[in-house]
Amino acid sequence: MARREIIKEGDPVLRQVAQPVERVTKKLTALINDMAETMYAVDGVGLAAPQIGEPIRVIVADAGDGLIALVNPVITKTDGEDIEVEGCLSIPGVTGYVKRYAQVQVQGLNEKGKPVKIQADGLLARILQHEIDHLDGILFIDKATSVAEDTE
Ligand code: NI
Repeated sequence: MARREIIKEGDPVLRQVAQPVERVTKKLTALINDMAETMYAVDGVGLAAPQIGEPIRVIVADAGDGLIALVNPVITKTDGEDIEVEGCLSIPGVTGYVKRYAQVQVQGLNEKGKPVKIQADGLLARILQHEIDHLDGILFIDKATSVAEDTE
């Protein structure tokens, strides 16, 4: 495993629509491991592959209940709505309130290439929506209200 550099806002890779993954290979598993290591190293709760410069549809998340890796994730059901504060590892020091679905069902492949369906609410639902947005070149600041910047 290797920790990777997190790409910051302004780099065009964050604005691309990421490509679907055709096969879960050993190389992809290694990438997922790098993403997890990178996320945990900065105490993040989610990371999308474009954030380490790989424009493919892979995300990792950990809302406190263990690592979830999803390949080609798609939101297949939604319910309710919820407004909460978000930030992004690619936009350090910036936070804002974002309206998201309160509950989502997400389908995709896990790190072994096996189809999985995840029901999420609360923080995990928010993380999954935020990370899947990254795969479409969307950043939370595009959707946020009352964006605040840290003035350290
Ligand atoms: Ni983000």
